[in-house]
Amino acid sequence: MATWITVCETCKRPDHPGPAEGAPDTPGARLAALIEGAVQGTGCGTALRVRRTACLMGCEHGCNLAVGARAKLGYVLGRLEPTPEAAEAVVAWARLHAESPTGQVPYRLWPAGVKGRFVSRTPPLPEEEG
Ligand code: FES
Repeated sequence: MATWITVCETCKRPDHPGPAEGAPDTPGARLAALIEGAVQGTGCGTALRVRRTACLMGCEHGCNLAVGARAKLGYVLGRLEPTPEAAEAVVAWARLHAESPTGQVPYRLWPAGVKGRFVSRTPPLPEEEG
């Protein structure tokens, strides 16, 4: 079962100059592209998947993304910078999420780049009856 990284591609950061000043893409789109590239580099494309979305309603603390999988804990991370280092940290942590039966990752294994970036955690939905 795949762990999905859902990246908000419309996230901006306070220092984003905007398209009129020569920045055609948003910081969120840049982070999404970096994460897509980092996942390809891991070679675990079936266990780790990436998709983009518009606005996760955390605009005040972009860049934001969500990590989740069916029947596992889900997480939202924010205050991420669109850098290769941040992308590598997110992908490394998401890979551990994919390997975990519950989605919980022991803190001692967290890459430094995700520490202090977690915004929320969501328990898995209960199984539907009948
Ligand atoms: S634009 Fe990314 S959370 Fe709203």
